[in-house]
Amino acid sequence: MDTRFAIENYCDAKAVTKELDELIKQPIYTIKPDALKNYEENYYGKKCCKSKAMIDEARQIIPGGVQHNLAFNYPFPLVFTKASGMKLYDIDGNEYFDFLQAGGPTVLGSNPPEVREQVIDLLNTCGPSTGLFHEFEYKLAKKIADSIETVDMFRMLGSGTEACMAAVRVARLATKNKNIVKMGGAYHGWSDQLGYGIRIPGSKFTQAHGVPLYIFKHTQEFFPNDLDSLERVLKLNTLRGGTAAVFIEPVGPESGTRPLDYDFNKGVERLCRKYGALLIFDEVVTGFRVGMAGAQGYFGVSPDLTIFGKVIAGGYPGAGGIGGKKEYMKYLGAGLDGSTKIKKAFMGGTMAATPISCVAGYYTLEMIDKTNACQKAGQMGDRLTKGLKELIKKYNLPFVAFNQGSICHLETVGTMHFAIDWSKPWGIPKVLSATSERKKEMEHMGAAYMAEGLVTLAGSRLYTSAAYTPELIDEALARFDRVFANVGLKQYD
Ligand SMILES: Cc1ncc(COP(=O)(O)O)c(C=O)c1O
Repeated sequence: MDTRFAIENYCDAKAVTKELDELIKQPIYTIKPDALKNYEENYYGKKCCKSKAMIDEARQIIPGGVQHNLAFNYPFPLVFTKASGMKLYDIDGNEYFDFLQAGGPTVLGSNPPEVREQVIDLLNTCGPSTGLFHEFEYKLAKKIADSIETVDMFRMLGSGTEACMAAVRVARLATKNKNIVKMGGAYHGWSDQLGYGIRIPGSKFTQAHGVPLYIFKHTQEFFPNDLDSLERVLKLNTLRGGTAAVFIEPVGPESGTRPLDYDFNKGVERLCRKYGALLIFDEVVTGFRVGMAGAQGYFGVSPDLTIFGKVIAGGYPGAGGIGGKKEYMKYLGAGLDGSTKIKKAFMGGTMAATPISCVAGYYTLEMIDKTNACQKAGQMGDRLTKGLKELIKKYNLPFVAFNQGSICHLETVGTMHFAIDWSKPWGIPKVLSATSERKKEMEHMGAAYMAEGLVTLAGSRLYTSAAYTPELIDEALARFDRVFANVGLKQYD
């Protein structure tokens, strides 16, 4: 197994959780109103005019003006036209440090020429898709199976969401059990039955607008980092149809926004074995970011199925897949194979496993492997987090910074650290109003970062890539310093 991991020192999840507990008890510290006004008038008002004009037009025809949940930005989204390495450029010619990385896929940085040239070659010879088998489907599947110990077989799909949907079906077919259990706050895409307990643990069905309640009859959540709460659900399920699968984001819900103890995943594995449920590792973010052997290699856990996405297509379209042991993967057979009596999971995808996804994915993984990109990106994450912690101390702020290698978290308001307790329903409206007030301030902080040339994921998460150098991280930290210098206690009129 490849032991080059992005995480050198695993964060002390209990200590971070304590800090986050403290953060959400504190009043809000955010960008001061005069500084925000200055950014609005002098940056967004004067230097982003082409973006504003374009977004005003787009709003007439595209709901909300943008089509990625993460592209929203206060006071208005910017229009990006160029990306290279760790740099992004907007339509007005402004330059930015990229800590969003397309939401995670670009561990090598944006648009690496080694991948791009192979994609261009494919386009010149074959085009992006044929609907038939292409040699790079095999090459990518083989690369993934060679890298991840628990993957005997792999099937590519169109997205992480699709792969999670497929995993639910496989788990039910394989175990003949009904229930699907997930960690509260975790994200496994936006399919009906996994739209449960999203962002806030305990939030159950409340975030899944448009999904009928009956869909969740066989979905349950448990509290992050709490094996007792998982076991309670599994035990109860023995009386109501058994558990087909436990889904886990291995570094914690929302890519580790709520960190987990290092040995937590091992505990989940033990409980899955005890109750006959499949263990499904959702490595959409961590796969080929935490290391070539995945987060499962890092934690020493053997999931039955692994969900892939993002990095496996290197930022190109069609990033999803499911891998695992042969005995489960047999339910994912495609094509006309009449020799088997196995009931195959119902699934499809015209644009799944296209030559363009597979060529891009194969060369991306080869390049990550060859250049040790996961570890390099992780070292940059460590440097960034250390610098952010120093700035938090310098300005005596209640903010919390921590990381799992190249997945860095900068919590200024702790929106996602709240939880809903249904045994005290009178507290629920308070949680909802606190999170929405805090989210607004997170957006204001995001606006300040952006105006200082820092593109973050929703103002609280930062992905580092192998395209960063220590000098560039230090330059970015100087920009964070400028933002933090303008932070104060939130003023109420
Ligand atoms: C852990 C996790 N699982 C699943 C998904 C869904 O993947 P996709 O956006 O490709 O549908 C995401 C997307 O961010 C994710 O972070």
